[in-house]
Amino acid sequence: MDKSSLVYPMFVKDGENIKEEIPTMPGQFRYSIDRMPEILNEMADAGVGSVMLFGIPDHKDSRGSQAYACDGIIQRALEKAKKEVPDLFYIGDVCMCEYTSHGHCGILQGEYVDNDLTLEKLAQIALSQVQAGADMVAPSDMMDGRIHAIRKELDRNGYVTTPIMSYAVKYASAFYGPFRDAAGSAPAFGDRKSYQMDYHNRREGMKEALLDIQEGADIIMVKPAMTYLDMVREIKDATHVPMAAYSVSGEYAMVKAGAQLGYIDEAAIICEMAVSAYRAGVDIYMSYSAKEIAQYMDEGRIG
Ligand code: PBG
Repeated sequence: MDKSSLVYPMFVKDGENIKEEIPTMPGQFRYSIDRMPEILNEMADAGVGSVMLFGIPDHKDSRGSQAYACDGIIQRALEKAKKEVPDLFYIGDVCMCEYTSHGHCGILQGEYVDNDLTLEKLAQIALSQVQAGADMVAPSDMMDGRIHAIRKELDRNGYVTTPIMSYAVKYASAFYGPFRDAAGSAPAFGDRKSYQMDYHNRREGMKEALLDIQEGADIIMVKPAMTYLDMVREIKDATHVPMAAYSVSGEYAMVKAGAQLGYIDEAAIICEMAVSAYRAGVDIYMSYSAKEIAQYMDEGRIG
């Protein structure tokens, strides 16, 4: 385990002088761009390698236009972050659900998400983030064919060395609940089961991973982490790309709630969750507790 392999996911929102706690994720905050460097510096000082940025725009519409606007929240945040705290590696989350008025991860055609219409938008989002300074993009939308579409668009614009981390193995999970509160991105109707995976299905995870590698993914992510470590190990054994796992908002919220009630030992549980992910084979671990994990590594508690 290495501190530089830790990724801290965080939320930035429009406005000024904002640092507001997310009610279902105690200890996690939404920051306005001017306040964001505080937390970035904390991460850099702790030795955390990367930060993954999620944007929460003031304005949402049916086409999620703020996701690919060159002056959108995430684009401005990336520019500022790269300038103010250049030592961190910055990952842009490529998805539409935080930006669409209906909360779905793509463009709607009637009541369902149109996969192919969405691809073009995702490629635009990725390009706009890289132009703003993202070191890597991470599509979390789960449309089929998006890795190919994004790779092609980045290459066409000269960004041939910018890597793509694919949320390839992403399940339709109740563990995303607190994130959707944080980002205001819960779908207004229906669910995400037409694009995220059924958690009963093990073989489909492998299929998604192999397809994304073929399309040009540089890193494969499994999400959530804790309840899907079997997939991490299986894909690690079958492929040759680095593996990432995302310990999501619901995992964080459960640990916090249990700790606040005095039912569990928070630090011990965070350590155990992190080590189990690395033991399963992750090379990159995304966690809202990244700073604490780095500290536990420094203390020699885990390593
Ligand atoms: C966007 C996205 C989600 C998460 C990361 N990217 C929410 C979702 O798919 O509904 C969840 C992360 C977390 O729960 O911490 N699609």
